[in-house]
Amino acid sequence: MQKNNFFPAGLALGQAFCNRVKERVVLQKCVQKNEHVVLVSPRRYGKTSLITQVIQENDVPHCSIDFLPATNSQFVKNAILNGVGELLPFILPKQKVLMKKLLTFFKGLNPKLSVSLVKVGFSIEFASTQPPAKSITEVLLGLDQVAQKTDQRAVVLMDEFQQLSFISDSHTLEASIRHAVERSQNITYIFSGSDRHTLEQMFQDKNRPLYHLCKLIRIERIHSEDFKSFLQNAAKIRWDASLSSEAIETILELTQCHTFYVNYLCRQLWNFDTIPQKETVERAWELYVQEQLPWITDDIGRLSANQRIILFVLVREPTNEIFSQYFLEKTGLQMSSIRRAIDTLQKSNMVGKSEKGVYYVLDPAIASYLRTVKSLF
Ligand SMILES: Nc1ncnc2c1ncn2[C@@H]1O[C@H](COP(=O)(O)OP(=O)(O)OP(=O)(O)O)[C@@H](O)[C@H]1O
Ligand SMILES: [Mg+2]
Repeated sequence: MQKNNFFPAGLALGQAFCNRVKERVVLQKCVQKNEHVVLVSPRRYGKTSLITQVIQENDVPHCSIDFLPATNSQFVKNAILNGVGELLPFILPKQKVLMKKLLTFFKGLNPKLSVSLVKVGFSIEFASTQPPAKSITEVLLGLDQVAQKTDQRAVVLMDEFQQLSFISDSHTLEASIRHAVERSQNITYIFSGSDRHTLEQMFQDKNRPLYHLCKLIRIERIHSEDFKSFLQNAAKIRWDASLSSEAIETILELTQCHTFYVNYLCRQLWNFDTIPQKETVERAWELYVQEQLPWITDDIGRLSANQRIILFVLVREPTNEIFSQYFLEKTGLQMSSIRRAIDTLQKSNMVGKSEKGVYYVLDPAIASYLRTVKSLF
């Protein structure tokens, strides 16, 4: 076995996938019951890994459409047409005659078979001159028709979906997606993204087309107890020994159980020939934060003075009482300024709020850096 199979830089799947048992069950049921989902978490918490793991475990055909680069409706149209074009070969029958018959569901989109060296050897290409909203509805409705006729289930994942709301015409596009999704019988839609505020507006505001279309699932950090057994198992395989409790506590404390950072740090540690002790963990993390300083200071430099003060105080004393006399005195700010600053910090994923309502600095690398800053004044 390779040294670093447990801590990939990309998606965590198979033996690299830690826990999330409850979320996997919920997501799996949604796919089986054709219940559409919007999955939200801050960046790099493991949304795509979770969805991909569930899809692989259940062996469901799927396509993944990334809206991160979306800047106009033409992009959205092409991304959806391409995604469906890649998924179709997995659910279309192999016999040419039947296939051709089913492709008539897309007649306004001029479907063509094209040879593809990846996957099943061909994909479907569409050449549509219709307006984006019309093409989107037609291709999604057609996909469901094919899945019904061939009696198959499939998943369409729309990742970084919040980007749709920043382009002009977004309501028309959202309406076209809604039209198809609410009629869908065999295709389950999973929308996901890291901008919680925008996604919640898209799916929970009565005036938006996607209102009440999906089950909202928020994913939090993996619990430390689950990480502990996962890391001990990985240590056993790597060094045939157990990590000391101090070493393991330090890994989880410094990374705050943030999946991306646990993975990054452990990827370095698991390269060592000897099992790391607490001090090795601390040194590796310190080095990492040093290397990250250019973007950390850049991110902090972009904040207003009030936002920086709040981060500075929260990193030392995470609290659920941000409007208490104590917090006002600590920050030297008025209640209204705190409200405004916290709101922006949450929207930009700089500050998180735990299930117990505690506000904290969300990124552990930024938190470590801020702890080294003696004073802001
Ligand atoms: N369940 C898990 N167990 C172990 N590591 C995980 C798990 N989920 C995610 N990771 C790790 O966390 C990092 C982020 O994962 P992933 O890309 O799935 O998150 P994401 O929320 O989709 O990120 P983004 O916001 O950038 O789209 C990766 O390094 C991945 O390997
Ligand atoms: Mg992702």
